[in-house]
Amino acid sequence: MARTALSHVAPAPEPKPPSIDEARGIWAAAFRRVRAETEARAAHLSAEDQIVQSMADASPTKWHRAHVTWFFEQFLLVPNDPAYKVFDQRFPFLFNSYYVAAGPRHARPQRGLITRPNSEDVAGYRAHVDAAVERLIGRVPAADAARVFSILEIGLHHEQQHQELLLTDILHAFAQNPTDPVYDAGWQPPRAVHGPRGFFDVPAGIHAVGHDGQGFCFDNETPRHDELILDVRIARHLTGNADWLAFIEAGGYATPALWLSDGWAAVQAEGWQAPGYWRQKDGAWFSMTLAGLQPVDPAAPVTHISYFEADAFARFAGKHLPSEAEWEVAARAGLIAEAFGIAWQWTRSAYLPYPGYRAAEGALGEYNGKFMVSQMVLRGSSLATPQGHERVSYRNFFHPAARWQFSSLRLAEFV
Ligand SMILES: [Fe+2]
Repeated sequence: MARTALSHVAPAPEPKPPSIDEARGIWAAAFRRVRAETEARAAHLSAEDQIVQSMADASPTKWHRAHVTWFFEQFLLVPNDPAYKVFDQRFPFLFNSYYVAAGPRHARPQRGLITRPNSEDVAGYRAHVDAAVERLIGRVPAADAARVFSILEIGLHHEQQHQELLLTDILHAFAQNPTDPVYDAGWQPPRAVHGPRGFFDVPAGIHAVGHDGQGFCFDNETPRHDELILDVRIARHLTGNADWLAFIEAGGYATPALWLSDGWAAVQAEGWQAPGYWRQKDGAWFSMTLAGLQPVDPAAPVTHISYFEADAFARFAGKHLPSEAEWEVAARAGLIAEAFGIAWQWTRSAYLPYPGYRAAEGALGEYNGKFMVSQMVLRGSSLATPQGHERVSYRNFFHPAARWQFSSLRLAEFV
């Protein structure tokens, strides 16, 4: 009781910032942990698996492993360690993704043609950069440490993004293989989360949206700003496969009135009749997963749907998709289940800059800002998102026809 009483009169002391030596230890441990997770995900794959690129949007595992390494080399080591020697002068061209200010680069759709450097060469590249980054962490002068560690932190979050892409990209590749390869027999597909269902009122009014300044965020989550939330209710749970089967059986994929014009064009061009990776065998639905071909669980949330499909389903259900602001306010208020760790949720919000957003100068300013057109925002996180990477203000974004990510939806209804 005495402690409780004291807390009313004496504000809690500010947590003491770590000393420079403590900070070196914290960042070295974080760096090792993230780098090891990438290799753990790749370890399920053979050298042949790691070369394949099944479509222009997906990248080979070997490329992911090398590209995240190039990111540290280009943005952390070269500018901040005068003694650093670039591992191979040919690699920046091969492993720069889209940073125009960082120099010319290999064509994205042709990444699968690069059989050399081979997997062992890429392992050597990773080891070279790992050692150099650890040296820099240990030796960076105290006056430069905050700036250098902030670039390191971006590199770690960047690598975590590629850890998720590594899985979604290899799943797409394996789904093209008639033998239904298994990435990991122990992989657990999404399962239903129990608890009260139905729709809940999102608190109407003016709410702050965007990152609150505590901990890391990407620049696209800022500036924090006010949004007006009208009377709207949001589904506590994600839409399930049983509901999606009802959509299919009601002719949802054959009813143009349910679809946006571009969505209907995609249905026809791609021959969509079910979510991505669904296949019908002897009247039963199966889905290609990271554990191979598995029966579709009617109780589990639907995944691998495009924005166009999410939008058509919402129209079919007489509902809407939530805006990203409605989603964030509802999530902060604890109104929604299955927000994180199952599947990203399409919102009806176009991926646009928040009011006042300006991308940073230089190559790292290309990270998010230049993609703010023609894509839609997804919120939450997925079962492929690495631990510690999720945030309530996180803005993921993809083109509306994309469905190789672990993407789902939750409905909203206006009151
Ligand atoms: Fe990247």
